[in-house]
Amino acid sequence: MSSVAKFKPAADFVSKAHIKSLDEYQKLYDESIKNPDAFWTKKAEDLHWFKKWDKVVDFDFRKGEVKWFIGGKTNVSYNCLDRHVLAGHGAKTALIWEGNDPTESKTYTYAELLTEVKKCANVLKAHGIKKGDRVCLYMQMIPELAISMLACTRIGAIHSIVFGAFSSESLRDRINDSSCKMLITQDSGVRGVKQDIPMKINADAAVAECPSIEKILTVKRTGHKVDMQSGRDIYWHDEIAKVNDDCPAEEMDAEDPLYILYTSGSTGKPKGVLHTTGGYIVYASLTHKYVFDYHEGDVYWCTADIGWVTGHSYIVYGPMANRAITMMYEGVPNYPDYGRFWQIVEKHKVNIIYTAPTAIRALMKEGTSWPEKHDLSSLQLLGTVGEPIKEADWNWYNEIIGKKRCPIVDTWWQTETGGILITPLPGATATKPGSATLPFFGVQPVILDEQGNELEGEAQGLLAIKAPWPAMLRTVYGDHDRFMQTYFSRFPGYYFTGDGARRDEDGYYWITGRVDDMLNVSGHLIGTAEVEGAIGRTEGVAEAAVVDFPHEIKGQGIYAYVTMMTGVEADDATIKAINESVTKHIGPHAKPDKIQFTPALPKTRSGKIMRRILRKIAEGAVDQLGDTSTLADPTVVESLVSQRK
Ligand code: WT7
Repeated sequence: MSSVAKFKPAADFVSKAHIKSLDEYQKLYDESIKNPDAFWTKKAEDLHWFKKWDKVVDFDFRKGEVKWFIGGKTNVSYNCLDRHVLAGHGAKTALIWEGNDPTESKTYTYAELLTEVKKCANVLKAHGIKKGDRVCLYMQMIPELAISMLACTRIGAIHSIVFGAFSSESLRDRINDSSCKMLITQDSGVRGVKQDIPMKINADAAVAECPSIEKILTVKRTGHKVDMQSGRDIYWHDEIAKVNDDCPAEEMDAEDPLYILYTSGSTGKPKGVLHTTGGYIVYASLTHKYVFDYHEGDVYWCTADIGWVTGHSYIVYGPMANRAITMMYEGVPNYPDYGRFWQIVEKHKVNIIYTAPTAIRALMKEGTSWPEKHDLSSLQLLGTVGEPIKEADWNWYNEIIGKKRCPIVDTWWQTETGGILITPLPGATATKPGSATLPFFGVQPVILDEQGNELEGEAQGLLAIKAPWPAMLRTVYGDHDRFMQTYFSRFPGYYFTGDGARRDEDGYYWITGRVDDMLNVSGHLIGTAEVEGAIGRTEGVAEAAVVDFPHEIKGQGIYAYVTMMTGVEADDATIKAINESVTKHIGPHAKPDKIQFTPALPKTRSGKIMRRILRKIAEGAVDQLGDTSTLADPTVVESLVSQRK
């Protein structure tokens, strides 16, 4: 693969970069591996600690134990806010909020944000929230979401954010799994053409079956009327008016929980990924600084939703710990038109944009006239995350958006990793379209074969990580066995990522995709089992099998094969009911793109569904079905092929 083009960072970018050459990266990387204690001590000292740690790291992957900055005391909200204000930077812009409506935006300085966060923290306290309590946040992209997160961390409450498009059932299950005491939501939401997303209505439906919830705190976003249950439901603006802005930050142990974030698992039940305090904030801030080459005053925009980990680490915590100007956008890329992203870049003179291949594809499809209408000269650096980026999409991003001046950082990481693990450093690493390139400081990726042997040099296999990094998850909330099972059992002594990868002659990593039953739809993982379960609950459906197929915008689309109960005929109403069931049990983002009814699924004699065959049919490679002789009934293949959608 030596023919792959390499893109070297331009000299004027390099001259200003934190890390200016591959040699400099290599030197620091080697140090971080040879002497992690010294490396991380130096980096952690950039933050504020009430008490310094006694020991940098302790771990045993075989037991699933990981601890960083042991004995240290710190607070994330203090590091993101107070530290900057006390150092005299209170008047600097912290957050630029851009509303769904192009005429609506708002900024907060660090001092203003600190005041809001202290007041919100006092509201939480006034309603009985204490250190260690779980608070669920179910909101759209409004400033109060970031304020609530920071308020939780200020008093040591553990937030659990549920993405605003999840259904009330998904919300209910997540609240119950971690028995949250309070739910923070908004009356209704505004996103793209949707002007009344029923957030409080969904919250009410969920909480009807959540015995642990004592209070629902509701932000007025649209002012639309919602039901307020007396004794339980309170309005944000009423409560904020009752409290003062005096609220010292709680001294948290480095290993105290910071937040829970649910991610799909291969069994169908989402996993509550638990992140802790000290290691997380050290790693989120350090990666944000180096990967995005962040400098004071840069306007930084990560287009993700805070409901996903990208927003946690790279809209709120990492940037704010670095005293960055961070943007938050309420809407979607195509509202009011396909030029919106570029209009925002021009309006706020954005210097760094971090987005996903799925957004790039959606915008690219509409042609170059949209970006050409806007002045993109403020841009200096482009980032991508969520799935492998195809060369053509990378080239468009580079040429049409970056005008060939802006390095592209393709960042590989996961909800579980808390921060970016494999990535270029923009002033140091020559990039190759489609490769996430090299490990960040302190990260030791390995490629394993099926037997767990480490492969050297150029190789292809399974991606695992050999040693802990500060932001890695510490457990699956309430289910440490599942944590062990999912990440540490297949290859004892390693963290197993669930991804396949290839390493090329330059030591660059190329992520080849999931090796488990997970779909990557628009850069977010959805378990096939979750979708199959939701389809299976539709009346008349006997069984479903779900696989991915290449989708122009989403990267992977969802293809569902469905069998009906004997004597039941599938019709348009069945399709509608399936879509409704998926929307109800998971959310609209998990709806199948294609549904094929079939009299039977291809199964082995022991009853295992042969997904390999279903995947080949879904992608149209019907001449590559391979050996079908192990099927209990090989004739099903013919009908599957002939009825293909
Ligand atoms: C999975 C994690 C990390 C935030 C967003 C997704 C895939 C992620 C890349 C990339 C190729 C990527 C992997 C990974 N993935 N980034 N740059 N190149 N694949 O978080 O929902 O936990 O998904 O997304 O398959 O395992 P997530």
